[in-house]
Amino acid sequence: MINEEVYKKLEREINPTHDIKLFAGRSNPKLAQEVAEALGTSIGPMVIKDFADGEIYVQVKDSVRGDDVFIIQPICKPVNQNLMELLIIIDAFKRASAKSITAVIPYYGYARQDRKTSGREAITAKLVADLLTTAGCTRVLAVDLHSGQIQGFFNILVDHIFATSILVNHFKNLNLNPQDLVIVSPDTGGVKRARNFAKDLSCPYAIIDKRRDAHNEAIANSVIGDVKDKTCIMCDDIIDTAGSITEAAKLLKQEGAKDIYVCAVHPIFSGPAIQRLTDAPIKEVVVTNTIPLNAESLPEKVKQLSVAPLLAQAISRIHDDESISSLFGFEKEMKV
Ligand code: R5P
Repeated sequence: MINEEVYKKLEREINPTHDIKLFAGRSNPKLAQEVAEALGTSIGPMVIKDFADGEIYVQVKDSVRGDDVFIIQPICKPVNQNLMELLIIIDAFKRASAKSITAVIPYYGYARQDRKTSGREAITAKLVADLLTTAGCTRVLAVDLHSGQIQGFFNILVDHIFATSILVNHFKNLNLNPQDLVIVSPDTGGVKRARNFAKDLSCPYAIIDKRRDAHNEAIANSVIGDVKDKTCIMCDDIIDTAGSITEAAKLLKQEGAKDIYVCAVHPIFSGPAIQRLTDAPIKEVVVTNTIPLNAESLPEKVKQLSVAPLLAQAISRIHDDESISSLFGFEKEMKV
């Protein structure tokens, strides 16, 4: 979790005069703009166009010879197109003689296939790491990777930062009574995240035993922990079809939970997600803007918080060779 005081102090200390070369692909231009504003700079000029058959064309419009460049591009929907676009952008910078190329990837797509769970499967998280490296990327700045081990799939530098801190701060500001509160992990994979959340909000945590019998189909079996008459905050890294979180919310209600809040860093919101979130017994859904959302299509209960100050801070610190880990209480992350 981020060290809030250090973060606030550092936010004021970004040096607006330093010459950060910031560029962006087309997957989240609004976030890129916010990051540029937080850094007191602008997005560098680049032409990105599609050929009639869908091939992508990229040209960097200014010289970047010998420069340290940062490219903002989450690998979100359309995933394959945005990934390919990032690879082509990196290739263009490599061939333009940039000294270093940092891919700023607020959402690392293909991360969920990070191991073989049965025979003859691919490990796409590793494949994407290899593709980025082959294209010429020299460093990756990623936000809340699906699993921390993905860092080890790279032989180039990886800075892994956590937007969960922004979600924790949101709930701190709601002043919910800790006596009445329980953090819920929607599956066993998210226990560490829930434990850290619970520690920051000084309350206990519970776990949903989730099962998947088919792709994109989540079944909430049972709750481990006491949720009766409690306000529940469910936290996850990703909401995709919202099956996991809404099935869990229904189960929590059956078990006697009071208000149910939901938060996640990456709002993929595929297919039925918005309808499911609308219909589910959930009071509020808090997500970040690592992935862009169409505000008009969102129900009122969905709130999107910006990771731009966090990314700007990390970019500034990488550029100035300063510590990033000091922004976070890593000792807490390591106490597994
Ligand atoms: C799974 O391990 C992830 O942390 C999320 O729980 C999952 O990706 C959510 O998917 P969906 O919203 O489709 O249930």
